Order: sequence, then C-alpha cells, then structure tokens
Amino acid sequence: MKKIFPKDFLWGGATAANQIEGAWKKDGKGISAADVHLFRDIKDKTKLNNVHENSDVTDDMIMKALSTDDTSYYPKRHGIDYYHHYKEDIALFVEMGFKVYRFSIAWSRIFPNGDDVLPNEAGLEFYEKVIDECLKYNIEPLITLSHYEPPLTFIQKYNGWYNRKSIDFFSNYVTTVINRYKGKVKYWVTFNEIDSIIRHPFMTGGLIESRFAPEKFEEVMYQAMHHQFVASAKAIEIIHKVDPSSQVGCMVTKLTYYPFSPRPEDVLEQQRRMRKVYCFSDTQVFGEYPKYLLLDYKNKGFYIKMTEDDLATMKANPVDFVSFSYYQTSCVAANPDGLETTAANTTIGIKNPYLSSSQWGWQIDPTGLRIALVDLYDRYRKPLFIAENGLGARDVVEKNGEINDDYRIDYLKQHMKAMYQAIYEDGVDLFGYTAWGPIDLLSNSLSQMSKRYGMIYVDLDDYGNGTYKRYRKKSFYWYRDVIHSNGASLFED
Ligand code: BG6
Repeated sequence: MKKIFPKDFLWGGATAANQIEGAWKKDGKGISAADVHLFRDIKDKTKLNNVHENSDVTDDMIMKALSTDDTSYYPKRHGIDYYHHYKEDIALFVEMGFKVYRFSIAWSRIFPNGDDVLPNEAGLEFYEKVIDECLKYNIEPLITLSHYEPPLTFIQKYNGWYNRKSIDFFSNYVTTVINRYKGKVKYWVTFNEIDSIIRHPFMTGGLIESRFAPEKFEEVMYQAMHHQFVASAKAIEIIHKVDPSSQVGCMVTKLTYYPFSPRPEDVLEQQRRMRKVYCFSDTQVFGEYPKYLLLDYKNKGFYIKMTEDDLATMKANPVDFVSFSYYQTSCVAANPDGLETTAANTTIGIKNPYLSSSQWGWQIDPTGLRIALVDLYDRYRKPLFIAENGLGARDVVEKNGEINDDYRIDYLKQHMKAMYQAIYEDGVDLFGYTAWGPIDLLSNSLSQMSKRYGMIYVDLDDYGNGTYKRYRKKSFYWYRDVIHSNGASLFED
C-alpha cells in the first residue's frame, strides 16, 4: 500500500519577522529587541549556544546600538529584506506547494512603542498584503503573535513583561490584529517558545537583567512569564470571541532529554528536567499551573503575584492545539562531572554517544521526534503541529551555481518518516509541519547568516554583504516532491 500522509496534512515552512523582514525603521516601525541584538562572531564553540550570555543586553549596549544606523553588526535590522521581497518569496513557497505558511507579526510594526493607543496603519497594511498573497495561492497563514521582538520602548520604559501593564498592551495589539484579519487567518500561535524566557530573558521577555538584583532575577523571570501566560489566555479569549472558527495554539521548545545511563539517579534527573520543559505547555493546555511548579516557587521562596482573575482567565482559555519546535535531543545525568557536553537548542547538553551532530553541535535524532510526538500526545490529547524543525548548516555554492544540500534532505527525510510512524503506528494526531526557515534567514541565537536552514538560498553573508538574490537548492525540488506526493516520495528509494 502506498504510504501517504493524512489528507489535508498541512505541509509548509515557518519564519519569524525579526529574522527575515529587515526594514527596521521603515513605514513607522518602532525599534525592537531584535534591532539591538549584536552579531558576535563567536569562535569559542562552547559559547555557541549560550544564548543567555550571547543575548544579555544592558542599557549601555542599547544606547550604543541606538547611536548607530549600522546594519552589519546588527543584522536583524536588514534580515533578508523580506519586507521588499515577500511576493517573490511567497511565489517560491507556492512553487514548492506549501499548504501553510507560519510567520510572525512584529509587534513593533503595529504598535511601534508597545504602549501606543493607535496602531500604525502601514504595519497593518503590510501584513494584510502578506496574508492576501498567501490566500491568493490557497496557502493557509498561521500567525505567531510574538516571536522575539518586544518593542524597545516597552522594554526601556516598563521593564518589558515584568510589568503587569504588558498584559493590557498585548491585548490591545491582539484585538487590533484579529479585528483586522478576522475571516482570513484561521490558525494563531500566541508566544513562540514561551519557555525561552528562562534562556533568553531579553529577547523573549524584554528583561534587562542588570536592572535587577542578581538573586532576584529568577523570580523576575517567572513573574514576567506569568504575565505572558495571562496575556496568552486573554489572546485566546479575544481571538475566539472575534472569530469563533479560529484555532489558537501554544508553542513550546520540545527539548527532549534522555537519562545518560539507566542509573535511577539519572532517570530521576531526566524526569526533573522534563518537568522543567513541560511546565509551560502543562499550564497552557490545562489552564492552570501544575502543582510541581507552584511547589518549586514555594521551595525557592518566590512570590509570584497572580490575581484570582488571572487564574480564572487562564482556566477558561486553554489552547486548541499544541505546536512545538524540534531540532535535537541531549542527555542529562545526576552527576555530569567529566561527561562531554555539546551545544543544544539554546542550551548546553550532555553528548549522546549514539547520535551524530550538526556543524553547530546540535545532535541529530529523528527517533527523538517520534518520542516527542508520542509524549506530547499522550500527555495532552490535543492536536499537534510541528511549528519548527530543520538543520542549520553551512551551504556551498558550486561553480555551476548548484547547492547540493543532501545533508539537509537526509535530515528532513528521516524526521518526516518518524512523523509518519508517529501518526500511523503510534496514533498521534499531527495535523501539520512547517520546516524552519524554508528560505535562509538569520539565526536567532547568534544572528548568523552562515547558519542556513533554507531550501532557498539567499546570497548574503554574516556581515550583510551580498546581492540578496534567491536561488533554489537541491532540497527545494526534493521538498516540492514530498508535498506534491503528500509524503509518498519519502518512501521511494
Ligand atoms: C527556535 C526559534 O528556537 O530555533 C527560532 O524559534 C530559531 O527563532 C530556531 O531561529 C533555530 O535556532 P538558531 O539559533 O539556529 O536560529
């Protein structure tokens, strides 16, 4: 029997405004956290994924960033200039056969400072054109409302998500966009990788660490996270009210940890670490904080301010689906001393001797995706959506102009086969898959262009040199065949 994915399976790709758009000050856009994120040419591999350190921005650094219009050291200011290329890029997605395109709206393009009363019409128009372009070709837009770009004024003036006012500011933004795009957009995601506030508090939470007492900072992060949980629940409430046919999901980083050995202490450590991963989706799916998280606050002496109304809003507005990013897995041990470590998705993990790694040290593990899917489905019984997956690699343009990225094809193929098994052998309800960065874009962690995920090559280097021209890689034609055959081509070799 021919192996194919479920009818109407949503194949596509995912991007984030701050990593592609550029046009950082154009048409009334305000400056955001991403625009002051400095590119660092990190040679020390152990620091490759220490995103917290790499993105820890101080007031002085912001002042320095604001004193220059330089874009080469602040690459998210130019992105891949999608702002001016979006039609051409969507046309390439159409050629690949995309059924869905996940992208984010930059809050600062709609509300330049975050606290503005009225929206910026030019920003609303831009995303309307993008949405209409997708709809013209029957591509379902899936929109992320917040993906690493809190407006800078919101950060400087209010301390970002630490301030309770953030909930109202964000609700105002959500109300504006849903009223504008209702009937056109069916799928929404509130916060990209909401858990990442713990790993990069500036980019996700708009928190300037040096403004707080060091011993208080963890509590500050959890307070900001609480505001995001409430804002996310309110967003679901608003979206459902304005457009009852829409579906709203959470989005979490699916960090999967294995115990380094079968020693019960390692297994216990793994369970402990997995709870740290699950506490975010547990809260958003069940609409209430898991007991183990509240106990953790208590044991640490944290006082997180939450009102009765907050908790009621969270309870009344659980997510409709669970979306997640999946790139790699790593190990944990009760005593990690002497064990080899490796970079993982915005963390450092213990190396798994059974896995190979990407050029950035992320361990490649398609079976881990199947494990992740089963774990999430068994835990939540909600439809799942893979919002990000892909391989960051250095591509070589051959003399004849070809880019033969067989390593990427192999990575994607193995992961897609694991998805197939999860659906048909494990009974998981998976309704879509968006490959990360179907067109090369700036990496989040290091703002590097040389870490490419795309099936479409963009002629641009780490310092912003290049023509911005787009080229089809070998994986472009391969993914086109996968989508056109609804996955059947994965099994034809
Ligand atoms: C996810 C983020 O964590 O990982 C994306 O949602 C990011 O924004 C992706 O780009 C890959 O990470 P990186 O650092 O390689 O870009």
